[in-house]
Amino acid sequence: MSENVFTAVATPNIAFVKYWGKRSSEGNLPNNSSVSMTFDETLKTVTSVVFSKKLKSDRLYINGELQDLNGTNEKNRFVLRTLEEMRTLAKRDAHALIVSENHFPTGSGLASSAAGATALISAAAEALGLNLGVEEKAMLARGISGSACRSMLGGFVLWKRGERIDGSDSNIVQIGTDAHWPELIDVVAIVSEKGKEISSSAGHDATVKTSELYRMRPQFAEANARKAVLAIKERDFGSLAEVIMRDSDNMHATMLDTWPPIHYMTDKSWNVVHAVQQLNKSEGGFVAAYTFDAGPNAHVITTRDYRRKVRNALEEIVPREKILDVGPGKGPRITASETLIDGERLLPRGGRHVEAAGKRRH
Ligand code: PMV
Repeated sequence: MSENVFTAVATPNIAFVKYWGKRSSEGNLPNNSSVSMTFDETLKTVTSVVFSKKLKSDRLYINGELQDLNGTNEKNRFVLRTLEEMRTLAKRDAHALIVSENHFPTGSGLASSAAGATALISAAAEALGLNLGVEEKAMLARGISGSACRSMLGGFVLWKRGERIDGSDSNIVQIGTDAHWPELIDVVAIVSEKGKEISSSAGHDATVKTSELYRMRPQFAEANARKAVLAIKERDFGSLAEVIMRDSDNMHATMLDTWPPIHYMTDKSWNVVHAVQQLNKSEGGFVAAYTFDAGPNAHVITTRDYRRKVRNALEEIVPREKILDVGPGKGPRITASETLIDGERLLPRGGRHVEAAGKRRH
C-alpha cells in the first residue's frame, strides 16, 4: 500500500536589516528585529515528507545525500528535535522520510537552509494533519534556522525581536505582499561557489561573545528595522537603499571585530560595493543597494528600471551567467505534482540518493 506523501515548495529570503546575534539559542531568538524580502521561485526548495510505521528511523536526504541527524551539523540536529516536537503535537510516533532538493542554478553557492526549513515544516505539518497557523509554523522553522521563519510569509516581512523569554512574541509580520512592490528586485552576483568558512551558528555566538562593536548593534539594527518597514510601506527606494547598505556594513563590521575575526566578504564582494557606489554617484542618488549575508555573494537591491545598468556594472566583476534577478515571491505552498518520494517503496524517487553523508554541500 502506498503511504501519503506531502510536498511543499519554499523560497529563501534576503534580509534588508540583518539578524546577527541571539538573545537565546533556545528557539533562535534574535537580539534585534529584522526585515526581509521572500524570493519568487527563481530559487526554490522542494521538500517531500512521509510518516510511516514501516520506517525504522527518521531519514533526511538533501540533494540526494543522506544526512546524519545526530552528527555535528547543528541544523540537522535541530531538524530531528523539530520532528519530535511536531510528532508530540500530532500524537503520532511514526518515523519520517524527508527528501529535499534545492532548485538553484547549479553550483551557485546559494544553498539556503531557510528555504529548506520552511518547506520541511510546511510539508510535515500537512503530513501530520496538524492544523497550524503561519505563526506556529514560523516558530518551528525559527527553531531550525532563525532566518527561516521569515520565509513562511511572502512579500516583505518583519521578524520582531520580541521581549518574552519563551519567544512567544518573536513573531513575523507581513509588511506587504509580493504585489505591494513588484518592481523591487535582487540582482544576485555569485562571486564564489565555496561553502562558508564558519557556519552562521558559530558566527552568531562568536560575535556576541567577543566583539566590542557589537554592543552598539542591536539598538542600531532595531532603528534600521523601523526605518525599513516605513520605507517599504511608502515604496521609498532612496530611504530603503541607505538602510540596507548601512545595516549590511554594520553587521560585517561587527563580524570583523569578532575575535578571531570573521570575514565573509572577499575582494570581489568589495568590488561590487564600489561598483554600486559608482552607479549611485553617476545617477545622482540611490538607485541600487548592496547587501551581503554570511558569505561573499552579492545581493544588489534595485528596481526593474535599473536592472540593465546594475547588470552591466556587475558583469565587469563576474561572468554574465553568474548573475540572476529575483523578485518578491508568494511564500510557501503545498503541491501534489512535485513529489520526491516513492510512497510505495518509501524511498527517494528516481534513485538519486547516496547513503554516505558529508560529501556534497547543502
Ligand atoms: O538563520 P541563520 O542562523 O543562518 O543566520 C542568518 C544570518 C544572516 O543571513 C547573515 C542575516 C539574516 O538576517 O538573514
